[in-house]
Amino acid sequence: MVAEIIYGKELAADLRQGMKKEVEKLADKGVIPALTVVLIGDDPASQSYVKGKQRASEEVGVRSRLIELPSSTSQEELLQLISELNNDVEVHGILVQLPLPDHIEEQAVIEAINPEKDVDGFHPINIGRMLTGKDTFFPCTPYGILTMLQSKNIQIEGKHVVIVGRSNIVGKPVGQLLLNENATVTYCHSRTKNMNEFTKNADILIVAVGKAHFIQADDIKDGAVVVDVGVNRMDNGKLTGDVDFDSALEKASYITPVPRGVGPMTITMLLHNTIKSAKQHHQ
Ligand code: GUN
Repeated sequence: MVAEIIYGKELAADLRQGMKKEVEKLADKGVIPALTVVLIGDDPASQSYVKGKQRASEEVGVRSRLIELPSSTSQEELLQLISELNNDVEVHGILVQLPLPDHIEEQAVIEAINPEKDVDGFHPINIGRMLTGKDTFFPCTPYGILTMLQSKNIQIEGKHVVIVGRSNIVGKPVGQLLLNENATVTYCHSRTKNMNEFTKNADILIVAVGKAHFIQADDIKDGAVVVDVGVNRMDNGKLTGDVDFDSALEKASYITPVPRGVGPMTITMLLHNTIKSAKQHHQ
């Protein structure tokens, strides 16, 4: 079997066209969705992600503001800034780019953001809403993955979803979202024994570990749907995923590439959440 490639980049472009029209309609009512991104320090990968978020915001007409602070910023200063943004009626979405410097406690920062402006979907209130099957801001990468599967009418209900990686940003929440869609979900992680006995049983295999070519064709069931969340930079400067794409392509029924796969969908769902927030704040 040769898999069909799911290009998140193309789907993202389609969705952003629709969002652009939605933003124009909101503008007619005097509402301009506004996202504030806070970037601390000078990590090149974070700078690049943030730039992508800015560019995509402009493309659909979301007002995006970047606040860059030095890595010496204290937790207290950051919490003060978040408090001001929480109280600013012109800000609909607040995103603090992770990871943060070691002296700042990530969870304290996440919990300081007003859940109604938490467009990342990381606040425990929003995670709890998701867990109980309520509509809320869903974390962007998981939501992007769900949207990609749905765009190809891939059945989720009753399917065995195996997730490799249990991060708070991707692994854990994507399992929850797909459980809400009635999948049977298995989590694999660094302590899992004989991991490929699980992965080889997956109807839908989602890999988010950050290790180049961690999953090989032998780890994949014939006809499985393979979603690769990894973004790894090789010595030659090229980006590659957590899945050995060339061999997996021969085995899977659908596969997402890296780049042009999940990444563009993450940013698109951030815009979706920001627009949703703007609508809720101006009801
Ligand atoms: N760092 C890597 N991915 C993300 C994300 O989705 N949101 C935030 N805030 N930081 C990140």
